[in-house]
Amino acid sequence: MIKKGIILAGGSGTRLSPLTKAINKQLLPIYDKPLIFYPLSILMLAGIRKILMIVNPNQINNFKNLLGDGKRYGINIKYKVQKKPKGLADAFILGKNFIKNNNVALILGDNFFYGQSLTKKLEKSLTHTNGARIFLKKVNKPENYGVAKISKNIVEKIIEKPKKFISNFAITGLYFFDNKVYKYAKKLKPSKRGELEITDLLKMYKKNNSLNFEHIGRGAVWSDAGKIDDMTNVSNFVGSVEKVQGIKIACLEEIALSKKWIEKKNIIKNIKFYGNCEYSSYLRKI
Ligand code: TTP
Repeated sequence: MIKKGIILAGGSGTRLSPLTKAINKQLLPIYDKPLIFYPLSILMLAGIRKILMIVNPNQINNFKNLLGDGKRYGINIKYKVQKKPKGLADAFILGKNFIKNNNVALILGDNFFYGQSLTKKLEKSLTHTNGARIFLKKVNKPENYGVAKISKNIVEKIIEKPKKFISNFAITGLYFFDNKVYKYAKKLKPSKRGELEITDLLKMYKKNNSLNFEHIGRGAVWSDAGKIDDMTNVSNFVGSVEKVQGIKIACLEEIALSKKWIEKKNIIKNIKFYGNCEYSSYLRKI
């Protein structure tokens, strides 16, 4: 069973500059909440309560002001500073002491997932404790993503931003790894762009016949929020769903309460913490 998760919430957010000059991408708003709430909610929905948040050196206090040690949401958040954005697979080197000899989930801090059967798929995947598991989503422009070619129900090939079409299944920013992940990550060499690449790590698992996958079906939504249009689109999507349905996407207290990780008295405290705002009105309702 996977009980631990890492959120990569560092990075330079160059593509969103000047928005990201003073504030980290993950703290920017997606409609009515900071972006970080969304990937965090996904780990919580999966049932993961032990979380390592990887952040930039000058941003750690901002994250702590917002999320603290996680107690507010019935979870435990530890922070680890990444001095330089050395790549996604650096998460496992930085996370060595957090992971210990356990299996671990990784989610990118700028990834948005939403959909009906997603929680069930996540919960099911947590029990797969051998190898690495990726989540695939059909996309319109595979040339912009890391993609996986699937053949006879196995991952045949992984290519980062393929110039020639091989598949339209993008590899999303959610991964589950067994306890070999640190050992493999240690063997990685920086790529041409100077980063420890997650695709290289996945290729190692593939070589050992231990890379498997799950499809995020067409009923679910996935996007990253790395570019301004993506951010605006996701923001508008969240706004539309929330306004029409009167629910909130990624309300951390709602998830924690449904899992019985917190009680009503905790929510009352959280309302005081947020102050008089629309998010607090929603908390009052639940
Ligand atoms: P990217 O979108 O690949 O990189 P970035 O956020 O620095 O943005 P840009 O390309 O515009 O400069 O990163 C994906 C996610 O992973 C994002 O949430 C930031 C995080 N990240 C880290 O925490 N550490 C890293 O070393 C890298 C490369 C990314």
